[in-house]
Amino acid sequence: MMDSNEKKDWTKKNVSRRTFLTHMGLAGAAAAAGNLPAKAEEGEPEKKPVIPGAIPLSFVVNKQRRDLKVDPRTTLLDCLRENLNITGTKKGCDHGQCGACTVHLDGRRINSCLTLAIMCQDQEVTTIDGLGTPEKLHPMQKAFVDCDAYQCGYCTSGQIMSATALLKEGCGKSDADIREAMSGNICRCGAYQNILAAIKQVRDAG
Ligand code: FES
Ligand code: FES
Repeated sequence: MMDSNEKKDWTKKNVSRRTFLTHMGLAGAAAAAGNLPAKAEEGEPEKKPVIPGAIPLSFVVNKQRRDLKVDPRTTLLDCLRENLNITGTKKGCDHGQCGACTVHLDGRRINSCLTLAIMCQDQEVTTIDGLGTPEKLHPMQKAFVDCDAYQCGYCTSGQIMSATALLKEGCGKSDADIREAMSGNICRCGAYQNILAAIKQVRDAG
């Protein structure tokens, strides 16, 4: 048991929880304010926010060279969506389980949520945004439309990126082979039969 003098000493040495949290809040606010760009005066170019520990990244996205600085912990998925504002690629699970985030890295399909952006240094990334255009759809995009291979559409960009890579990789001829090769792409709406039909349409036309 502490006597009353000991208690006073202890209280002096130890900051109360409320004081501690207040200090932390102020420190956090100050730190955050330090990272915010100062408000640009009229006519001045806007200053970019400072990202502590950011490192340079240079790569090609949808045939365009992109040079930026990223936090080394940034995933390719977040880099595309948050840093570059390329939002065709979707975040489903963020854990490599659904395939919604599938993109091509140097022509091979990958889960962008499991790939750090800095791992793509000097490489070429293609997303659904760079596959076709509204005026000139990629054959796989057209096949998905023809076959009604989606419902809500959330998984669709990942399905199409996976399907186009799959045909380049080559897979067996049976429906089961295609299903197996597409098994990393989950569709919560259950459009699997139509997705299969779309892939076969492109395969059989080629
Ligand atoms: S968001 Fe990447 S696999 Fe689900
Ligand atoms: S179309 Fe809705 S999740 Fe696949």
